[in-house]
Amino acid sequence: MFDTVESAVIVAIDGPAGTGKSSTSKAVAAALGLRYLDTGAQYRAITWWMIAHGVDTADPAAIATAAGKPAIVSGTDPAAPTIAVDGEDVSAPIRTPEVSAKVSAVSAVPEVRSRITALQRSIAAEAEAGIVVEGRDIGTTVLPDAHLKVFLTASPEARAVRRTAELAGADLAATREALIKRDAADSSRKTSPLAKADDAVEVDTTELTLAQVVAEVTELVEQRRAALR
Ligand code: DC
Repeated sequence: MFDTVESAVIVAIDGPAGTGKSSTSKAVAAALGLRYLDTGAQYRAITWWMIAHGVDTADPAAIATAAGKPAIVSGTDPAAPTIAVDGEDVSAPIRTPEVSAKVSAVSAVPEVRSRITALQRSIAAEAEAGIVVEGRDIGTTVLPDAHLKVFLTASPEARAVRRTAELAGADLAATREALIKRDAADSSRKTSPLAKADDAVEVDTTELTLAQVVAEVTELVEQRRAALR
């Protein structure tokens, strides 16, 4: 008897900031032996590079011209995801308030999106057992044929409380305001905005613990994986 070969399962997890996308995606991927891709980290990395190289992040034409220059490499082990630009580990500097404030403008530029989208598709295609990809437009644009699409939501209050707890010394009111501003920019941009795919399963995490969200999403993936066999 031959072992049954498992098909690769592609999971898209989208939603606004502070809904628990990263923690959920990493935990689900680790539990099921899948790879993990943080697409927000890629947009943050290209934003960090623009700032470091003096590109005016308020000038879409300047961003478009530079969009192809940085080499962005994502490590997809859910236990230790990495992000490097031109060979430099940028895991820490991409989380600064400056990058958070500028990432929406940079990621709205079509040349940035087409380049990063192509990178995301090639990483997903190489994941033999499958992958959990988290972002804003994964189910709608990057991987519209994903086997499972999940859209995570939570109240602005819950999201601000979570984000403040993640960032040492952050102020709750300022974090809430920055989150709402970034969501509005990400949802209203012309090129592949933050949006729920018609066939995505919506999970409101406001009243749920992380463990409950992970259990729910893991169960959904297992059901889809069983249907693929
Ligand atoms: O997930 P995050 O907060 O690290 O994402 C940072 C920004 O990157 C987010 O405000 C918008 C952008 N982004 C995007 O435009 N498309 C994605 N698939 C992921 C992130």
